Amino acid sequence: MTATIINGKEVASNLRNEIKDEVITLSVTPGLAVILVGDNPASRSYVKGKEKASIEVGIYSELKELPSDISEKELLDMVEHYNSHPDIHGILVQLPLPEHISEKKVIEHISPEKDVDGFHPVNIGRMMTGKDAFLPCTPFGILQMLKYKNISTEGKHAVIVGRSNIVGKPVGQLLLNENATVTYCHSKTPDLASFTTQADILIAAAGRAEFIDETHVKKGAVVIDVGMNRKENGKLCGDVAYDNVKEKASYITPVPGGVGPMTITMLLYNTLQSAKKHLERV
Ligand code: GUN
Repeated sequence: MTATIINGKEVASNLRNEIKDEVITLSVTPGLAVILVGDNPASRSYVKGKEKASIEVGIYSELKELPSDISEKELLDMVEHYNSHPDIHGILVQLPLPEHISEKKVIEHISPEKDVDGFHPVNIGRMMTGKDAFLPCTPFGILQMLKYKNISTEGKHAVIVGRSNIVGKPVGQLLLNENATVTYCHSKTPDLASFTTQADILIAAAGRAEFIDETHVKKGAVVIDVGMNRKENGKLCGDVAYDNVKEKASYITPVPGGVGPMTITMLLYNTLQSAKKHLERV
């Protein structure tokens, strides 16, 4: 049996159409400020994708490009500027930042009400306690993909490989909120396969090319690949050895065209929610 492919582009396109339809009904144009520090080509490409997608759904997007030698103080001042900017409802500082700047400090400087990345400790705490919060975009996007395919999480064993603040930790928390039983694995987990082969839902978010192969997967498991790696030949690949794992899984996400398009979509969704909350407050 070959797995059903969860087509992230299709899920994203449906959601983006819904976002677009709602944006035009609002009395304010949702505004997103994206701050890019330095000239990392991957970051630039992500940021350009976010800008293009924003425009397509009618969100105003303001890209602020800053040189890599900008001081931490200058960056914090820029965040401050957008915190109090009336036309901006979402602020995203593209990570990673140069080494002389504290990411933690910058994230904590973003107003939690404009933190559409869902990285601020206030939003993380709200998410953990099950309160209304901006949810981090990649984990949120993964939940939407499962919902789209009517894949239930209740009582399922979800195994997460990877414990980053952006993906691994929060996706486990969101699945726990959705009544899954959650196991976290990481680089120090011995005999990884003994855990991953118990997964009904396996989330590969280790950042290592084709690290998860068919020996790590239970027959019929749902496999979500968050990886975005380059092979030696320059080709994009995920954390999952796709060709072999797809013969064992029930559902699988491809790379590219899986989780990636969902991350940007949930950013647009969060920006729309932020603009709506702003309208409720005024
Ligand atoms: N760098 C890689 N992914 C992300 C993301 O989702 N948000 C931000 N701000 N930076 C990133």
